[in-house]
Amino acid sequence: MTSLHTPDATGLGEIDRGAGRINVDDKAMINAQADVNQLLPLKYGWAWEKYLAGCNNHWMPTEVSMHADIALWRSRDGLTDDERLMLKRNLGFFATAESLVANNIVLAVYRHITNPECRQYLLRQAFEEAVHTHTFQYICESLGLDEGELFNAYREIPSISEKDEWALRHTQNLENPEFATGGPDRDQAFLRDLIAFYVIFEGMWFYTGFAQILSLGRRNKMVGIAEQYQYILRDESIHLNFGIDCINQIKLENPHLWSEEFQQEVRGMLTDACRLEVAYGRDTMPRGILGINAELCEQYMHFITNRRCAQLGLAPVFAEVDNPFPWMSEAMDLKKEKNFFETRVTEYQSGSSLTWD
Ligand SMILES: [Fe+2]
Ligand SMILES: [Fe+2]
Repeated sequence: MTSLHTPDATGLGEIDRGAGRINVDDKAMINAQADVNQLLPLKYGWAWEKYLAGCNNHWMPTEVSMHADIALWRSRDGLTDDERLMLKRNLGFFATAESLVANNIVLAVYRHITNPECRQYLLRQAFEEAVHTHTFQYICESLGLDEGELFNAYREIPSISEKDEWALRHTQNLENPEFATGGPDRDQAFLRDLIAFYVIFEGMWFYTGFAQILSLGRRNKMVGIAEQYQYILRDESIHLNFGIDCINQIKLENPHLWSEEFQQEVRGMLTDACRLEVAYGRDTMPRGILGINAELCEQYMHFITNRRCAQLGLAPVFAEVDNPFPWMSEAMDLKKEKNFFETRVTEYQSGSSLTWD
């Protein structure tokens, strides 16, 4: 099954007894010749560093006290109707978004990334997505929310369905067992999946939600959930940066894939994704709440979209705009602001030196 000409992409083919030792230059992001079961010698230091940073950031949702949130949720006048609507639609998006991302990693991306240090990170990321889904189970249980309303929201709330359906369109051809990379069309299909999930789903569509909850936390409301979102945001910053590094490395190794035409297509994808997120922002905040509203979220999403374009080496799609939520960058950097909401005692973080986006 395994030969020089048909490398074993899964790592589960027959053992090639007597094959030579790994030459680091044979390692590649996709369509690699080198054995995917041998981590060393490392080729991509950035992937290994992100694996270590992810491990240093370990946390569990159950370590965060929900007492204040429960009291506020139960009190008659603790939250306005608009805040409750925003919170429910926010949680409704995330409750299944984390599973969609996890399923994409495990069932679509993992198989086609032919590099063991990247797979090492994907395994860590898959666990983190499980922790994130656990967070929504814990919130649901703590507040006594309607399980069906929360977890079925992606099939009931159109602005959520539309985002999820859009992303799924980019992964559906990859989950086909017949799909394999190799050849420009199929390699571009794989890049589209990475862009749809890492850059757009995790790198754009989580950010309205993060801003909404952290904005509540800044006003001392739902501080337990806000603290959990802060930890999710820290994890997601690494997921996003890992995805961007993967895409840029694949571009470097396969420059023919990054054609002018494909770049325009990707800019179009980011533009469409921004429009869907702006609609979701309006749907979650039809009237706006103290400190945050749909217009500011739209401006924020233009800022984020341009930033993602720059990270991929693409021209911006919107006119230059200021970040309306500069406090989001503080919330992202737990090293500088360890106790952003001053509710957590335990600190796992032991010295990652990554920059957050
Ligand atoms: Fe996540
Ligand atoms: Fe993620």
